Amino acid sequence: MKFEIADLTPRIGTEIKASKQDLLQGGLGEDIRQLLEQRGVLLFRELNLTDDEQLAFARTLGEVIDQGMKGIYKISLDPALNDTADYLHATVHWHVDGAQDMVPTRASLLTARVLSRIGGQTEFANTYAAYDDLPADRKAEADSLRVVHSQEYIQRAMHPDPSEAQLARWREHPEQVHPMVWTHRSGRKSLLLGLTAGRIDGMSEEEGRRIIDDMQAWATQPQFVYRHEWTSGDLIIWDNTGVMHRVEAYPADSGRLLSRTTLVGEEPIA
Ligand code: OGA
Ligand code: MN
Repeated sequence: MKFEIADLTPRIGTEIKASKQDLLQGGLGEDIRQLLEQRGVLLFRELNLTDDEQLAFARTLGEVIDQGMKGIYKISLDPALNDTADYLHATVHWHVDGAQDMVPTRASLLTARVLSRIGGQTEFANTYAAYDDLPADRKAEADSLRVVHSQEYIQRAMHPDPSEAQLARWREHPEQVHPMVWTHRSGRKSLLLGLTAGRIDGMSEEEGRRIIDDMQAWATQPQFVYRHEWTSGDLIIWDNTGVMHRVEAYPADSGRLLSRTTLVGEEPIA
């Protein structure tokens, strides 16, 4: 391997030290993908990739989603920089990107450009580790449950008292019912929860909500979480198939700006 590694916590996160040149050449893609699946989050401190370099590096890892400007989506709460900025306010809640879809994205790469003076740290929770550490009876319970995911629950977090018109608009996006435990082709299992999870199939709203909240609290305990304090130029990659993430609230006018590149999903939830 042409890089050095150092774990950030026992259960999630590894820092990779490698030169830009080695990363961009592409020969490391497979090793990095494997490490990502094992560790959930990879950090490259102050790598300072330009947007074009980030795109080139992402292509060594998988197929890039056509989002934003040529594969670079600006994470910013400033509507002048991001016309879906409104939606990003929901990222302060634990979530899995695209959990309301059949095939969530594979992973995302995030480079910090401008930091907020207040808040803006990003937290990641390893949901493979959270499943593995469940006591046997709770594993069996989780294995048996199916969870309804929807765009509506993302919106509800921001607009708790919706009008009929808002509800109708949100409900244009179909719901998805997913198992609470995603059994991957690798044979490993991860919990699938987060903001899109609204209720449990076949249960009352209240009972389902209580079980989802309990499981969510389990999965986000400190031993499963890595919290990143950004330095400008840091690059983080997270495995979106086995990690939930959220950002600590920051002011909309803070100037905080990150460049995100996302890899196409490779595995339907099963
Ligand atoms: C995302 C996201 C968190 C952040 O890019 O999907 O949730 O720290 N970002 O801005
Ligand atoms: Mn996100």
